[in-house]
Amino acid sequence: MSDLDAFITGLPKAELHLHIEGSLEPEQMFQLAQRNRIQIPFASVEELRAAYSFSRLQDFLDIYYQGADVLRTEEDFHDLALAYFTRAHADGVVHAEIFFDPQTHTHRGLPFGVAANGLLSGMRAAEAKFGLSSKLILCFLRHLDEASAFATLDAAEPWLDRIAGVGLDSSEVGHPPSKFERVFAAAAAHGLKRVAHAGEEGPPEYVTEALDLLHIDRLDHGNRSLEDPNLVTRLARAGMTLTVCPLSNLKLCVVDDVARHPIPAMLAKGLRATINSDDPAYFGGYVADNYRAIAGLVSRDQLVTLARNSFLGSFLPDDVVTRHLEAVDAFAASH
Ligand code: HPA
Ligand code: ZN
Repeated sequence: MSDLDAFITGLPKAELHLHIEGSLEPEQMFQLAQRNRIQIPFASVEELRAAYSFSRLQDFLDIYYQGADVLRTEEDFHDLALAYFTRAHADGVVHAEIFFDPQTHTHRGLPFGVAANGLLSGMRAAEAKFGLSSKLILCFLRHLDEASAFATLDAAEPWLDRIAGVGLDSSEVGHPPSKFERVFAAAAAHGLKRVAHAGEEGPPEYVTEALDLLHIDRLDHGNRSLEDPNLVTRLARAGMTLTVCPLSNLKLCVVDDVARHPIPAMLAKGLRATINSDDPAYFGGYVADNYRAIAGLVSRDQLVTLARNSFLGSFLPDDVVTRHLEAVDAFAASH
């Protein structure tokens, strides 16, 4: 391992943008298909991996929703989560705030609790095994309607004491944040945090809607905010955290070359950017791979800033954030 690799891996970090269904590796997909006696339309792990070639978000979403069909039991979700946490721990992640898409599962007939209980069990196991803390964020699928999102929030009611917040994902263009204004208001009334994917493929106006109508606490992706200087100023002044995902951006053609990734511009403009893996099984790498992908574009101090930002942008209590920041600074000072 090079000095830079060791530095990136050793930096204590939080991951704030991770779809747990997107951490389903082909090997585990085949294993779960076999365990649940399900046929999948691919002959081998290699054939499946070869299908992971996307030119836009929707290409990926089609295969991602199909892949999730092998998840059938609480044990499956537990195993999925623990496999992710094991890799995240190896990458120096000490805290993760993970997304799940309940509608992907309830629409297949699984009760809400199968995914929620399995994931919460995997999260407890990761805390016990690695000391890795985590929070769970329920994402609404924005290509579905408001009534379906409200039904999901209702179904989640018995679990809301164990769910940190709500998010918004899936096909962005044509499904603006305004579609979910009332659902997000209901989530806020439950005391839930709010995040939303915006400005990945959608225009800067969707980011403004997420701020003004959804009252988000954190912005997922946000790349296209850079097209609007007034919006950039607003995000920087508000100290809004952006959960940026370099390898996802490359795979989904949000950027055409990782060497021209806008992370240096984001930091230069004072945006609180963080580095995340999004859907690591599909996009070619976990969080340390994402730091490595942009490491040539930023200074060592900026890598430390990105790790610090991951805790500043988390939903952890202030005293816990302070403790993690001290650990980042101690690591940076001794390496
Ligand atoms: N964008 C939108 N929806 C998603 C993504 C993403 O990057 N990953 C999983 N669902
Ligand atoms: Zn995402």
